[in-house]
Amino acid sequence: MIEPVYSPSSERYDSMTYKRSGRSGIQIPVLALGLWQNFGSHKPFQDVKAMAHYAFDNGICHFDLANNYGPEYGTAEENFGRLMEQSFRPYRDEMLISTKAGWDMWPGPYGNWGSRKYLMASLDQSLKRMNLDYVDLFYSHRFDPQTPLEETMQALVDIVRAGKALYVGISNYPAKAAAFAYDYLKERDVPCLIYQGRYNMLNREPETQGILDQAKENGFGFIAFSPLAQGLLSGRYLEGIPADSRMAKEHFLKSSTLTPQMQTALVKLNEVAARRGQTLAEMALAGCLKDDRVTSVIVGASRVSQLEDDFKALENIVFSEEELAEIDRIIFV
Ligand SMILES: NC(=O)c1ccc[n+]([C@@H]2O[C@H](COP(=O)([O-])OP(=O)(O)OC[C@H]3O[C@@H](n4cnc5c(N)ncnc54)[C@H](OP(=O)(O)O)[C@@H]3O)[C@@H](O)[C@H]2O)c1
Repeated sequence: MIEPVYSPSSERYDSMTYKRSGRSGIQIPVLALGLWQNFGSHKPFQDVKAMAHYAFDNGICHFDLANNYGPEYGTAEENFGRLMEQSFRPYRDEMLISTKAGWDMWPGPYGNWGSRKYLMASLDQSLKRMNLDYVDLFYSHRFDPQTPLEETMQALVDIVRAGKALYVGISNYPAKAAAFAYDYLKERDVPCLIYQGRYNMLNREPETQGILDQAKENGFGFIAFSPLAQGLLSGRYLEGIPADSRMAKEHFLKSSTLTPQMQTALVKLNEVAARRGQTLAEMALAGCLKDDRVTSVIVGASRVSQLEDDFKALENIVFSEEELAEIDRIIFV
């Protein structure tokens, strides 16, 4: 069967909000789509395509990848490469595509951490898998305490100078290493565009460890990953563990997280969300976006209906003092 040519919605930019990343020139949609868990070879390509199309049709023009997203490693990038060929190529210049290297990717000493050799080779592989000449944003995926930070940062600088990435970012760096990275990159006229860190209602480390303030003060953006705590902060687990959920896979999200106390807290948070006219997922996303230091959140849906729900979060990202105090009381009892 011949499939119709993809034609994105002409209203795709009408309802999304775009925020400047720090003091850079680039604006980022406040919702980005992450391809970590649900876009690899284990997923029917039709499902991958439906979610990617829904996202782009609704103004989510930022797609976040990494070399080892799948499962299997590399296959989220391969599927994105198929999307480039089948749908997205005419819209390449409307897209902000990011990838990363820093976690384990291939065996041996050159397929992990932060060496120049690993970052350079990994990005070349990513570009091939994604059928791209360049990415918009390339990240050092984590701080490597064994590699001189100068080496990792110089690799980022050289990647930009080689035209393989337009911008660079860092992810999961402790504040002290982030400060060094920021200065190093700025001195070489390749300023850090954005910091990517785990941030959600249950995990406030970027607030408590000064990462959000540091980003704001230094003029780079902050983009939150796992804003729903991998789905915990959604209606998925209010009555147990659904068979088709991430937690049921017992890999990245373990069932031991869902203690009786956690389940009670989720039910109470869901009640607060209902009073705001939101689902728990919507409220959790709004809870990240309410902070003006947060540029964007990366969601990782497993189906289109979740993206539809996530999108509704944008309708109300304002919280009263009473609501915030109640949420904190529920979480930090
Ligand atoms: N830099 C890093 O080190 C790093 C680390 C992790 C992630 N990331 C990035 O951040 C992205 C997002 O991470 P994440 O997948 O953990 O994000 P998340 O948004 O916290 O969790 C996504 C999961 O939540 C559930 N979900 C989403 N929307 C829902 C809704 N409206 N209602 C009910 N359930 C909903 C789905 O779970 P089910 O699958 O159970 O349906 C989905 O797979 C990744 O794809 C990746 O791009 C980066």
